[in-house]
Amino acid sequence: MSLQQTPTGQNILVKFDIQDGVLIASIDNPPVNAGSWGVRQGLSDAMAMASTDETIKAVVIIGAGKTFISGSDIREFGKPLHEPLVPQLIKAIEACPKPVVAAIHGAGLGGGYEIALACDYRIAAATAVVGLPEVRLGIIPGAGGTQRLPRLTGMSRAIELISSARRVNAPEAVRLGMIDEVTAEDLRSAAIAAAKTLAGRKRLVRAMPIPSEPAEAIAKAENAASKSAKGLDSVDIALDILRRTISMDFDAALALEREAFETLRLGEQATALRYQFFAERQAQQLPGLDKAVPRAVEKVGILGAGTMGSGIAIAFLDAGYSVTLIDRTDEALAAGLARIQDNYAKSVASKRISDEAAVARLAHLGTTTDIQVLADCDLLLEAVFEDYDVKLPVMRQLGALARPGAIIASNTSYLDLDRLAEASNRAEDVVGLHFFSPAHIMKLLEVVRGARTAPDVLTTALAIGKRLKKTAVIAGVGEGFIGNRIYAAYRRHCEFMVEDGASPQQIDQALQSFGLAMGPFAVSDLSGLDIAWKMRQRLSATRDPRERYVAIADRLCEAGRLGRKTGAGWYSYDKAEGRGQPDPKAAHIIDECRRQSGRPQRSFSDVEIVRRALAAMVNEAVLLLSEGIAQRPSDVDLAIVNGYGFPAHRGGPLFWAARQPALMVEQAVDELEQAAGFGFRRAEISVLLATLSI
Ligand code: NAI
Repeated sequence: MSLQQTPTGQNILVKFDIQDGVLIASIDNPPVNAGSWGVRQGLSDAMAMASTDETIKAVVIIGAGKTFISGSDIREFGKPLHEPLVPQLIKAIEACPKPVVAAIHGAGLGGGYEIALACDYRIAAATAVVGLPEVRLGIIPGAGGTQRLPRLTGMSRAIELISSARRVNAPEAVRLGMIDEVTAEDLRSAAIAAAKTLAGRKRLVRAMPIPSEPAEAIAKAENAASKSAKGLDSVDIALDILRRTISMDFDAALALEREAFETLRLGEQATALRYQFFAERQAQQLPGLDKAVPRAVEKVGILGAGTMGSGIAIAFLDAGYSVTLIDRTDEALAAGLARIQDNYAKSVASKRISDEAAVARLAHLGTTTDIQVLADCDLLLEAVFEDYDVKLPVMRQLGALARPGAIIASNTSYLDLDRLAEASNRAEDVVGLHFFSPAHIMKLLEVVRGARTAPDVLTTALAIGKRLKKTAVIAGVGEGFIGNRIYAAYRRHCEFMVEDGASPQQIDQALQSFGLAMGPFAVSDLSGLDIAWKMRQRLSATRDPRERYVAIADRLCEAGRLGRKTGAGWYSYDKAEGRGQPDPKAAHIIDECRRQSGRPQRSFSDVEIVRRALAAMVNEAVLLLSEGIAQRPSDVDLAIVNGYGFPAHRGGPLFWAARQPALMVEQAVDELEQAAGFGFRRAEISVLLATLSI
């Protein structure tokens, strides 16, 4: 049977085929076989056909292309959903008198896995992954996932799987009971065989009891899940549903689950997380770049084996590249290598990767002090000291050494990429790859487009970002690019508040309560106060003396308080890992600066702190957009969420601003203007917010 069309013109995205009395329903909705309306309708048609056609003895649901149903169609989530809904399809699968087999390859996630859970048998290819990752989109499984999964895995495991949103690979999934069988054979033939073996028997998960377990095991899983929620309502609500429905009638429990799903689906957090989801996909698009073919990159040379160089090396090794790490001295190289080895030893100890995988990755790493090896690399990336006197000669050397077609990248945080590119004498091959510390963990990668960066170099950089599993955001050249520039404005305004009377602890706590992973002062201590100090020194000659300048951070640095690494910064630290404690010595330095500033002292409410800190981000973001350094508002939000610990479920600073009363944001910017005084650049915020379709 070929594609059918409804009166509204939407395609039925399922093809039917009958083999040996088994109806094979192949879902064909590229690229990821999302469970769109046409898929749900097609599968419902398959159930209707199997129910009435005597010659059909069983049904196999399988994905055409590279996957089973990888999830529901997220584009449909923000609107009224059209019938048949997934629960209706599931009802039809269960009511179908013939057994239904789910044949899973690629991904069977979310609504896709819920459909598989309604089937009578689940068979998967060895490379398949299954799971219920809904909480990460701010929702809970809404089609029976919370009810059927515990019947297969037990309650405590179901709590862990649903709250962590974990994707489970097929071998583990069969161990946990999530699927019935892993096959190494051709999936379609194996599924047909399984369907025949069922010999007409239905085997519904809903009819199975939840395996009994000690109450402590369940309580332990609940506690762990609850701790991991970090402000995400979906996790708490999933837990609540699991808890309340454990001994409830199955259909009553389904109704409760659906109600919670519907409430969450249209709520703030789910809307923010969907916005982030689409922001990530959109960020990869740059008008005019679609025709540029990425260059091949396999061999990567990294110059500078410091904090960043070694972290970047791990990121590339993890993605399967071969890496050569280069530094000036054997000592620097040994220290870099030790950091990399230590990282893998820890990953093995915590079972994140196997011993063999660690050995294999390290086998792709070479170290040398001989810069000539770079002549053989496809990508030459510098992560040397943040200083023109060091970087300009390095870029000259890289430009001379690199083979034709090789790409030269700089990890600079603040320096002018165009100046560095010109020094290489082949600016078209130069791009910024700005990683964030720790480089193998932080998701954000700013891809900095120089004035002369060639289109295919830019597409290669995006392709590299994808292979590294980073969130790549394109930025133009400018002090601090997107993220650091916004962050600098935010930190500056937080320092204004400290000088005017708020304590660093109060500011950190207020922002953490809003949902930021850490407050700005705890972050400064963690990353070290010296980088920003050097930047301020570099800029001091050009700074207008009429601009407000808070000297507290300089005084802390002058007192040797460079942050956690020196045992003290804004806070003091007992052990390297411990939490910072408020420190009377820091308080004394702060008081002294307040006194010298002569500014009136006042108290701040937590609400005002959050409003001003976020408004500072928003104002700077809108300036960046007007200067063309950021392409689109969602790119800015993506950068701040993925690089600066802004909670994804709040969408990002611009998403936040777009959902506040416009007057409130303008008033907050008035406050910023008053606090900053001379030189404050006010952005046209209302104009931008009015155009945002958030
Ligand atoms: P680092 O001081 O830890 O490492 C720099 C390394 O470069 C040292 O091992 C040094 O021996 C080596 N080096 C210096 N000159 C060299 C030369 N001519 N040839 C070969 N090796 C040379 O510095 P870090 O923190 O790793 O920073 C490196 C770059 O990454 C800087 O541009 C910095 O702005 C940028 N960056 C730093 C971040 C951070 O959080 N530390 C975050 C993002 C970017």
